[in-house]
Amino acid sequence: MNKITTNSESQTESWAGNFAKGLKPGDVVALEGDLGAGKTVVCKGICKGFGFEGLVNSPSYAIVHEYPNEPPIYHLDLYRLKNANDLYDIGIELYIASKGITLIEWPSMAGNFPLNITHRIAIKIINESEREISEFK
Ligand SMILES: Nc1ncnc2c1ncn2[C@@H]1O[C@H](COP(=O)(O)OP(=O)(O)OP(=O)(O)O)[C@@H](O)[C@H]1O
Ligand SMILES: [Mg+2]
Repeated sequence: MNKITTNSESQTESWAGNFAKGLKPGDVVALEGDLGAGKTVVCKGICKGFGFEGLVNSPSYAIVHEYPNEPPIYHLDLYRLKNANDLYDIGIELYIASKGITLIEWPSMAGNFPLNITHRIAIKIINESEREISEFK
């Protein structure tokens, strides 16, 4: 396990860009942490790390955003998921079995659904500007 502390959004974003270098097509990254912890900031950094310069934001209502990139990036936010079975409706099996990079905010909402997570990131809010980021493999 790796643990670091960041002091700003941009520091978290650049940490994530560096973290992305360790990812390969097919990987599934779970992002845990309270509301406003910085999960989406990490997703932005990972996308930038893969060269995607477009808009990255929480797909709360849509559940999933697909970013056109090589490799493709699938950004899921399960916060508003009502039932783990709804994951079949959004086609999650295709994402997690694909050669893209899948990023999942609020993975706990999937219950026992097998997400095939390869990397886990947990973000803890220390104060307004500090975050403790733990990385598990
Ligand atoms: N060190 C830091 N790292 C990341 N974000 C920070 C940091 N300090 C302050 N912030 C702020 O925390 C917020 C993080 O928002 P973000 O949308 O990434 O959270 P989230 O975990 O995705 O929340 P949600 O569960 O609502 O999707 C931003 O407003 C950002 O500016
Ligand atoms: Mg978010």
